[in-house]
Amino acid sequence: MNKIQRIGVLTAGGDCPGLNAVIRAVAKTALNKYHLEVMGIEDGFLGLVQNRLHPLFIESVSNILTLGGTILGTNNRVDPRRYPVKCNDSTKIHDVTDRCLEHIAHNQLDAIIVIGGDGSMTVTAHFVRQGINCIGVPKTIDNDLYGTDITFGFTTAVAIATEALDRIHTTAASHHRVMIVEVMGRNAGWIALHAGIASGTDVILIPEIPFDLQKICECVVNRSRRGKRFSIICISEGAREKEGRQVVQRIDPTSPDPIRLGGIGQKLALEIEAATSIDTRTVILGHVQRGGPPVAMDRVLATEFGGTAVDLLMAGEHGRLVVMKEGAVSHIPLESAADKQRLVPLDLPLLRAARAIGTCFGD
Ligand code: F6P
Repeated sequence: MNKIQRIGVLTAGGDCPGLNAVIRAVAKTALNKYHLEVMGIEDGFLGLVQNRLHPLFIESVSNILTLGGTILGTNNRVDPRRYPVKCNDSTKIHDVTDRCLEHIAHNQLDAIIVIGGDGSMTVTAHFVRQGINCIGVPKTIDNDLYGTDITFGFTTAVAIATEALDRIHTTAASHHRVMIVEVMGRNAGWIALHAGIASGTDVILIPEIPFDLQKICECVVNRSRRGKRFSIICISEGAREKEGRQVVQRIDPTSPDPIRLGGIGQKLALEIEAATSIDTRTVILGHVQRGGPPVAMDRVLATEFGGTAVDLLMAGEHGRLVVMKEGAVSHIPLESAADKQRLVPLDLPLLRAARAIGTCFGD
């Protein structure tokens, strides 16, 4: 017999367009279809550590479908297995899993739906091993979660980056410049690849294909010679030169994923300008890519993912991750996605298509 009566829902990791759409789908499906009680856990796993939860009703999730961010709050720093606890003047790292388990029991949660990326799924897999029934919903603008063909938030981030690249055309063409737009994505080039293709960018640089400065300079100089006196480059924050290293913007030691990338666009601009004498500028899109309302496709995906997560729980499933595979929503063991990244495969047909129309990948 399925004993699920009360569930918790949390959003973990960086915010992402569509989080509220998933929360809404989870809560409405649980309340309307299965007559469950739903508790919102605040600020990701931090809410479990600090016992900060509140009930969600239909009214609580009404009118949030189009809202960016997350009404529950989120956190990309907390891993209860390594939680910094202040004692006197020093901070010690403690495993506070037991504290979380007490709070789960105290709040009578029969299961938790975790909306998060790869880091959050690693923490979730830990709770599954502790006997807590969790279902994961794949979130990230980076689209790099292993096991699913797409994560919600990605399509919105691509749309934002594409619009920025489209708008950059004006300045690039008027000033005869090289304009570089640096996009997010960590170690995966999905955003750069899709936004670059969508906007007809001349050069796309992704972490999976280390670039050769010489090749990029040849591309922009050849374009100038052909009368195209400007070039647009879309570079992923994780891209690097052959034999070079990724550019690290900051290290956040309190985060389970401490490295924050950023700055490769500026470095490349200086190098291109020095080598070609063509005026070159960089725009770093940053967190703009995660902000604002989700596009229609992400709202649809988020709604389907959220509803499926509740259906899985009620069907007696344990420790599963909702995924999209070959156009259909299905599920895989949550454990299988933990600590893994889905990078752009070098034999991706989309890469071949982009090369065929003359896009330079700097290799
Ligand atoms: O994973 C989402 C993401 O936006 C990455 O693309 C980026 O590298 C990182 O998060 C930025 O993290 P933060 O919000 O901590 O600066």
